[in-house]
Amino acid sequence: MSNDALLHLLHSHLAWWGLRQFASDEAYFQWQRQVLSLAELTTLHRLMEQKRRGSTADEISFYDATAQPRILPVLYSQQYDYYLAIGARVADRIGEAQSILDVGCGVGILTTFYARQFPNKTIVGVDRSPASIARAREQTRALGLTNVRFECLDCTDLAAAHSADLILATHALVQAEQDPGIPSHSWKTFERAAENQHQADFERRTGIGPKLDCLNDLLAAHGRMVVCEKTRQLSRRIPFQRALAARDLGLIEQPELIRYNLVEEIVDDGPFFVLGKGAFRSIQWNELPDPDEGRPFDPTELVTGLAHPDMPLYESHCPSAQQAWEQLHKRHIFKETTRKEADGRQLHVEIGQSEEGVYLYCANSLDQRQLVIVEPARKQILESYYHEIERGE
Ligand SMILES: C[S@@+](CC[C@H](N)C(=O)[O-])C[C@H]1O[C@@H](n2cnc3c(N)ncnc32)[C@H](O)[C@@H]1O
Repeated sequence: MSNDALLHLLHSHLAWWGLRQFASDEAYFQWQRQVLSLAELTTLHRLMEQKRRGSTADEISFYDATAQPRILPVLYSQQYDYYLAIGARVADRIGEAQSILDVGCGVGILTTFYARQFPNKTIVGVDRSPASIARAREQTRALGLTNVRFECLDCTDLAAAHSADLILATHALVQAEQDPGIPSHSWKTFERAAENQHQADFERRTGIGPKLDCLNDLLAAHGRMVVCEKTRQLSRRIPFQRALAARDLGLIEQPELIRYNLVEEIVDDGPFFVLGKGAFRSIQWNELPDPDEGRPFDPTELVTGLAHPDMPLYESHCPSAQQAWEQLHKRHIFKETTRKEADGRQLHVEIGQSEEGVYLYCANSLDQRQLVIVEPARKQILESYYHEIERGE
């Protein structure tokens, strides 16, 4: 089926669930206020804050609330473009699989889409939110689907009967959205040592260790796993990849970086991984930062006087700012500070002069980089900025 035809079916499926696509925050929030009362919005907000604190019970309460018939379409409409991005990619990869397990399936919006598109496949959706599973079952009956069933279970309690030749886990395994991951050796590098203790701590904090062990046991020898989590930050991506690799899960396809809108906000998500057991070794895991959209650094372009009065000669907030900083000619440092922040990250900031101009470089061990270059006449601006960072502002 062509991608356009698949997307057309996905749009109709999302409309059947009552979801709407919005291009502006204003239109979306207007609809949200029309449908939901202030009391409902306040409760949702409170549950979302509690979920952020990370207890399992709080997370279940949040997802239970989102499954309520009045709330579901409004809340999940925010994810409309996510469903298009993930639903189309997964449907494209169902292939020869006969038994499919969708782990952390939520209310089953995508699970029922796959079941509709592939009536000859058997699909099981599993989630630990009872209200989400109740809703998924209700919708399955309403759609008249007989090839999909839903079970309320924690995925670490799945048993041999749930074995599958395709396991799907999208936004389901790494719920710990606040976890910073593993910092690099220092602000100078993006590399992480292969330290077992750091990795074990990450897997324990996020709970992915037991989840992956269980899913791996259920995956048929020739099976595939499709995984897409919020692990775009390198400090989370690396330990997540290492956790997959440690379970002998290898890449069948090049990982794909996913980008979509949450109404007006652009979200960089993924990577989208297609994995298989052991035998697939042709594609290597990559622990480098994502290719970025930083302005290419060309020292010959930085001619004093050409910049707009309000613009620096050069500015980049992307990982490639590190290469630009390394390329500066005859770097002379005026002042520099390196310290450990309360959350454990190491931060470095320096101000100096090079042939290209006066520069400020800021880097930390959670992969953030920033380089700003101005003409010497505007050195004062960077000095103030340096002192703000030095004071921790
Ligand atoms: C963000 S929703 C994603 C739903 C769906 N996979 C999707 O892509 O739209 C995450 C779901 O994972 C479920 N979940 C998280 N941890 C789980 C676990 N250990 N076992 C079962 N379900 C889990 C939550 O209850 C929630 O419904």
